[in-house]
Amino acid sequence: MKILVTGGAGFIGSAVVRRAIADGHAVVNLDALTYAACLDSVASVADHPAYAFEHADIRDRAALDRIFAAHAPDAVLHLAAESHVDRSIDGPGEFIDTNVRGTFTLLEAARAYWERAGRPGAFRFHHVSTDEVYGSLGAEGQFTEATPYDPRSPYAASKAASDHLVRAWGETYGLPVVLTNCSNNYGPFHFPEKLIPVVILRALAGQPIPIYGAGENVRDWLYVEDHAEALLEVLQRGRLGRSYNIGGENEARNIDLVRMLCAILDDRRPEGAPHDRLISFVADRPGHDARYAIDPTRIRTELGWRPSVTLEQGLARTVDWYLANEDWWRPLLARPGVGARLGLAGATAGQGA
Ligand SMILES: NC(=O)c1ccc[n+]([C@@H]2O[C@H](COP(=O)([O-])OP(=O)(O)OC[C@H]3O[C@@H](n4cnc5c(N)ncnc54)[C@H](O)[C@@H]3O)[C@@H](O)[C@H]2O)c1
Repeated sequence: MKILVTGGAGFIGSAVVRRAIADGHAVVNLDALTYAACLDSVASVADHPAYAFEHADIRDRAALDRIFAAHAPDAVLHLAAESHVDRSIDGPGEFIDTNVRGTFTLLEAARAYWERAGRPGAFRFHHVSTDEVYGSLGAEGQFTEATPYDPRSPYAASKAASDHLVRAWGETYGLPVVLTNCSNNYGPFHFPEKLIPVVILRALAGQPIPIYGAGENVRDWLYVEDHAEALLEVLQRGRLGRSYNIGGENEARNIDLVRMLCAILDDRRPEGAPHDRLISFVADRPGHDARYAIDPTRIRTELGWRPSVTLEQGLARTVDWYLANEDWWRPLLARPGVGARLGLAGATAGQGA
């Protein structure tokens, strides 16, 4: 299958690109190369004959039309987005423009291409979204695909809007769509302003490790390579018009997650132990959702997919990857704004998660 991956120079997109090529698919990676992009993340496949890169913006209809015509993909796997909650608090406009107008423009270009091709039933437009569209949970319960949307940050609201557009294009125009809503990802090639790389890199540098509030917020952590595998399963075998929740079955409070990372670092870098002495509690993110948890029943029963790693295994792999790949992350720390205290609007502190 030839897959047009949008956002393939980002964290999850690059994992999808690497996995798709390894699985024997052809990939066209379409990316605008924003601050969050890193083409080094796909360096391992860049010279593969089944890989092509297109530097383009999903808001640029003319560029999209050219790319669809030139490559004639069998499917679109749409990951391009502004993705950082804290940045959406500081500057929501870019999130509405990219995530809503960009998805609309991509849908229209995909629809025109699909209609010109005679509306092939095998075509797929797979939209990658987040569990944050469902809002926040209390101590009990899990998000199912039937949970009502209740987004609470500008990022989540822009993703919810794009989900609605994709469903509407499926219902109204018959475009063959599928959607996925996943929990927080982690793993290799994660941009160094998000929680887990921040913890690892601060701990290695002997700097304070910032944790929002009391660290009580709970996330359901999904190893990025498991996510990439799940996305390719849904793309090929998911039922038309369906959405699938994807979770790691790995709930953890932020403070427990950070302590697990510190314990792994104590083992790998004993000279800096105990790394948890660096933990520093900072004022909470405004509108910080208390708990996300995914009910993965649908993807498990319909497609037989389950995560392959536990949180302990995935975190150990992630720490080892950062220790071995300083050449990848060191230059990213120098990008403008990275490491700044983001998400301060309406509050006094920030940190990506
Ligand atoms: N990271 C997570 O934990 C997580 C969780 C749930 C859902 N998601 C969703 O998964 C997708 C990928 O997330 P990620 O963490 O890999 O994001 P990321 O920020 O690492 O990467 C996004 C990529 O999209 C590209 N991009 C941004 N705007 C663009 C535009 N206008 N045109 C073309 N390319 C553009 C960027 O250059 C970047 O390479 C997003 O849609 C996000 O909402 C992410």
